[in-house]
Amino acid sequence: MEPEKHVSRRWRERRRSKIILATLASIALLAVIIPPAVVVTLRKKNSMGPKSSVFVPLYVYPAAEAWAPLEKVISTHPEVNFTVVINPGSGPGPNALPDGNYTREVPKLAAHGNVRLLGYVATTYATRDASLVRRDIETYAAWPEKSSNPDLAVRGIFFDETPQQYSDKALAYLQNLTDFVKATPGLGPDNFVVHNPGVIPDSRYLPSADSTVVFEASYATFQERHGAKLFEAIPNSRRGQLCAVIHSVPDSVEGSKLRGLVKQVRRVADEVFITHLSTDYYASFGDRWSEFVSVMAL
Ligand SMILES: *[C@@H]1O[C@H](CO)[C@@H](O)[C@H](O)[C@H]1NC(C)=O
Ligand SMILES: *[C@@H]1O[C@H](CO)[C@@H](O)[C@H](O)[C@H]1NC(C)=O
Ligand SMILES: *[C@@H]1O[C@H](CO)[C@@H](O)[C@H](O)[C@H]1NC(C)=O
Repeated sequence: MEPEKHVSRRWRERRRSKIILATLASIALLAVIIPPAVVVTLRKKNSMGPKSSVFVPLYVYPAAEAWAPLEKVISTHPEVNFTVVINPGSGPGPNALPDGNYTREVPKLAAHGNVRLLGYVATTYATRDASLVRRDIETYAAWPEKSSNPDLAVRGIFFDETPQQYSDKALAYLQNLTDFVKATPGLGPDNFVVHNPGVIPDSRYLPSADSTVVFEASYATFQERHGAKLFEAIPNSRRGQLCAVIHSVPDSVEGSKLRGLVKQVRRVADEVFITHLSTDYYASFGDRWSEFVSVMAL
C-alpha cells in the first residue's frame, strides 16, 4: 500500500504543477489582454488600505446651520460611517432634555443610517462619583422616551478622561460603567463604549471599551512619535478597537500629502479624526474638513 500511495502522490503533484503552470500562463495572458489603464484604476482604488469611520468630537453648539458642514458630508458620503460625539453641557446637561437647538438638530443626524451618535460623559480619570456618571448615562438613554421622539437618541457613550496608568480600582470602575451601558436599552442598538485616555493606556484597559482614543494630539507630536508606528507598540491591540485624533495639521499637508497621512492612520485605527485647526479644533469645521472626509471615502 505504501509505495503505491507514494506513486499516486507524485502523480498528483506533477498534475498540480501542470495546473499551476497553466494558471500562471493564463494570468500572464490576461495581464497582456486587460488594458493597463484598468489595472492602474484597480490599484488606485485599493491603495488607501482599510476603510475607517470618521470620528467627530462635535463640541459645536447647534445654532441654526452650525452643524450644516457635518450634515453635508454625511449626505454626500453615505458609504462612509460617522461616529459623532455630542456634548450638550459637559455631558447631557442638567435637564431631562437638552435645549431646543439640540432637540431639533440631534434627530436630523441620528436619522442617517451611516451615523452613530455617542453622548459625552466626564469621568475625571475614573475619580468622578460613579453614581453621577450613571445618572448622565441614564439621562441620555431616556431622551427618546422623554421627548417621544425615537430619533432623539444616542447609540453609546464617549467616556472622556479615562486613565492611562493601571489600577484594579479604575478598571473595576470602567468595567462597571461599560456593563451599565451594555445593559441600558435606550442606548441601542449599538450600546457602544469609547474611552478617551488620549494616549496609549495600559493595555489591560482596552477590552473594557469597544474603542479607545489612543492618540489625541497635534500633527507635530504625531510626527515626533514616528507616526502610526506608535500604534504597533500597543500589546494585543487590533485596529478595530483603536481611534486616533490628530489636530493642528499644517495647511501644507493637503492633496497627496493628506492622502498619505490618512492612509497611514487608517492602517492602524478604525476611527479617525484629522483637522487642520490649531485652536478650538472641536468647536468648528476647518477649511479642509470636506477634503478630509473625501479622502476618508477613498
Ligand atoms: C458601516 O457600518 C455598517 C453598519 O455598522 C457596516 O455594515 C459597514 O461595513 C460599515 N462600512 C464601512 C465602510 O466601514
Ligand atoms: C438656539 O440658538 C440660538 C443661537 O445661538 C439662540 O439664540 C437660541 O436662544 C437657542 N434656542 C434655544 C431654544 O435654546
Ligand atoms: C456597579 O456598581 C454599582 C455600585 O457599586 C452596583 O450597584 C452595580 O451593581 C454595579 N454594576 C455592575 C454591572 O457591576
